[in-house]
Amino acid sequence: MARTAALAIALVLGPALAAAAEPPAARQAELLHLLEQDCGSCHGLTRKGGLGPPLLPADLDGKDVAIIALVILEGVHGTPMPPWKSELSDEDAVWLAARLKQGDVP
Ligand code: HEC
Repeated sequence: MARTAALAIALVLGPALAAAAEPPAARQAELLHLLEQDCGSCHGLTRKGGLGPPLLPADLDGKDVAIIALVILEGVHGTPMPPWKSELSDEDAVWLAARLKQGDVP
């Protein structure tokens, strides 16, 4: 049910998320810091997993950037994965999702 709802939202938000512009350089640095400090506390400093699953490119292969961004924004209800939409814009989430997928993270 939660998955169906998430997919329905993705279908609506997908095109909007995909069209989001890149955040400015200063914001990108903040996002990378958040990824290491906050996301890293569950997904591991080097994103190899911990309480949360690993977030390396191989793990995200086959998952759309828009779907990954949606998970980041909305969280996964009933699991420790929190929603980040109060801290991250759509643009931030799409940028992070794309970086994670490409493994383009320091
Ligand atoms: C409190 C722990 C916690 C924090 C902090 C956290 N996550 Fe998660 N995350 C999880 C858990 C647990 C799951 C698995 C949820 C499930 O069972 O589907 C998850 C799932 C995910 C997924 C889906 C992975 C997949 O293969 O489908 C992504 C993407 C993700 N998190 C990204 C992030 C990002 C980016 C951040 C930081 C902005 C973050 N998470 C912070 C615990 C966390």
